[in-house]
Amino acid sequence: MIFIDACLKKKTPYTPVWMMRQAGRYLSEYMQVRASAGDFLSLCRDYKKASEVSLQPVDILGVDAAIIFSDILVVPLEMGLELKFEKGEGPIFPKPIQTEEDLENLDIQKGVRNLSYVYDALKLTREKLDPSKALIGFCGSPWTIATYMIEGGGSKNYAKCKKILYQNPEFLHKILTKLTLALKLYVEEQIKAGANAIQIFDSWASALEKEAFFEFSFNYMLEISNYIKKKYPHIPVILFPKGISGFLDEINGNFDVFGVDWSTPLNLAKEKLASKYTLQGNMEPCRLYDKNSIKEGVEKILDIMKDTSHIFNLGHGILPDIPVGNAKYFIKLVQEKSSK
Ligand code: CP3
Repeated sequence: MIFIDACLKKKTPYTPVWMMRQAGRYLSEYMQVRASAGDFLSLCRDYKKASEVSLQPVDILGVDAAIIFSDILVVPLEMGLELKFEKGEGPIFPKPIQTEEDLENLDIQKGVRNLSYVYDALKLTREKLDPSKALIGFCGSPWTIATYMIEGGGSKNYAKCKKILYQNPEFLHKILTKLTLALKLYVEEQIKAGANAIQIFDSWASALEKEAFFEFSFNYMLEISNYIKKKYPHIPVILFPKGISGFLDEINGNFDVFGVDWSTPLNLAKEKLASKYTLQGNMEPCRLYDKNSIKEGVEKILDIMKDTSHIFNLGHGILPDIPVGNAKYFIKLVQEKSSK
């Protein structure tokens, strides 16, 4: 698997490429399966359909890895926190976490057990996937998941989370510790079901000051990564903390790949981190609207990363209205231009 080789800093015949959110609405084939499943969570819970949409980008675009179709928020959902996806509004937790009692009501064992549809989807996908392609399992970082559980949905300023962070940091640590425990077991089950690598998404890392980022987010991600690397040293771990280009000097720990978001200059990430980690990223996702801009972005990134271990990706998820022809052009261009 050339994707796994790149994660482990081995030489590859070309630069492997995939896209965050590659199983999604820009594909008409996804929209068809999604319509047949009903709503988004029903699609997540139908392991055959979840597997089908996970495989679509590999078949249609020729990406080098499939990421399992699911969502970071199914973990709190299955631990007992009611979750809704309203049309056009994104995720909503109608009864967000406010008290110690709310937290105690969440059940780690039940959550890890109820997530069997994710393990079933991974197993089926690994069976169907070409042996040369990798299957990526994932989870959210404890901090990013906690922001949704506390705010009740997406947030502009994270005021509720910050209030707890400053007024009652012990309580925030309790929430994060419980989530970390659940996530360790969850990703372990994903590996047992056939995931070849694990990515941890920390989409809201940038909401925190430097010291707070390391205390409340990065340390918990490392706890999950340490757990995996100790038990499954051959499984690459990818960390993707978004929007923290100012803190790269202090990024350190036992993981394999650092996901670079699009706002971080790639040559800066290279200078600070490429001696330790494979870098993944980081083309600006909106370049996919225009073929000339794709070509320019791909050439620039390949030039910076030549002779350095690299997985090509976008610097965040692909948007729903990207023309699929442009996505195909992007994937093919990376594979051809990087060919050695
Ligand atoms: O990358 C993939 O192709 C795998 C699937 C995947 C989804 N969500 C499917 C999804 C992954 C890896 C995620 C992760 C996720 N989910 C993150 C971290 C990555 C990031 O984008 O920052 C976050 C923050 C979430 C929470 C979430 N889920 C939000 C905020 C939304 C609504 C925004 C949106 O894009 O509509 C979702 C819904 C969601 N998750 C969709 C998909 C395909 C859209 C649902 C639909 O089909 O209508």
